[in-house]
Amino acid sequence: MASHDEWIEKTRDHVEHLFEGEGSGHDYQHIYRVWKMSQRIAEDEGANKTVAELGALLHDIADWKFHDGDDTIGPKKAEEWLHQIGADQPTIDKVKDIVATISYKGAGVDTPMSSLEGKAVQDADRLDAIGAVGIGRAFSYGGNKNRLMYHPDEPPVMHDSFEAYKKNKGHTVNHFYEKLLLLKDRMNTETGKKIAEERHRFMEEYLDRFLKEWDGHA
Ligand code: ADP
Ligand code: NI
Repeated sequence: MASHDEWIEKTRDHVEHLFEGEGSGHDYQHIYRVWKMSQRIAEDEGANKTVAELGALLHDIADWKFHDGDDTIGPKKAEEWLHQIGADQPTIDKVKDIVATISYKGAGVDTPMSSLEGKAVQDADRLDAIGAVGIGRAFSYGGNKNRLMYHPDEPPVMHDSFEAYKKNKGHTVNHFYEKLLLLKDRMNTETGKKIAEERHRFMEEYLDRFLKEWDGHA
């Protein structure tokens, strides 16, 4: 048990250093929130906490969006790191699978998680994309990429392939319709679903106000 706590402590330190200075919504504070939420969901759902926590801490270790669309780097880096700290191979394989599968790949692309631990971490990651924090992250991502907040003449696009989703450069309000409002119905766990409901309602209310204000109606 002691070694498991040590893996988590070392991994936490490692990612905190790695994500220093990252301001696009992928900062260590995001990792921290996903880690804490994964603990809560894993506990409620009876998942292995060590695997869930390591998966949460490493889930964004090399995001494809910041590596020219290469989505194989994350699992590789996670494996290297876990070897380095002496984790056992079954644990490494489970965590690698979480890192490889977690990302959202477009409205029409299914991304099934095979393990309960993966389901917990994916829910935690998705919960961080919705609600008050999620709204903040979306606009901060859009600013980082020089996107408009909103443009009334550009309707949302439902991407049916990961390739199309990757290339998308639309304004940030579209992102709510292309991803954020869809997440509630894609939660894996009961705990995740419950938390998502409330965050979803808050986003709907927010968008409603946003669009009314846009036209000078509120
Ligand atoms: P995931 O962890 O599911 O891969 P992402 O890494 O895609 O999530 O997204 C990180 C954060 O940036 C999320 O809060 C997400 O909603 C936001 N984001 C991603 N793409 C866009 C976009 N095109 N416009 C606005 N926000 C975005
Ligand atoms: Ni994430």
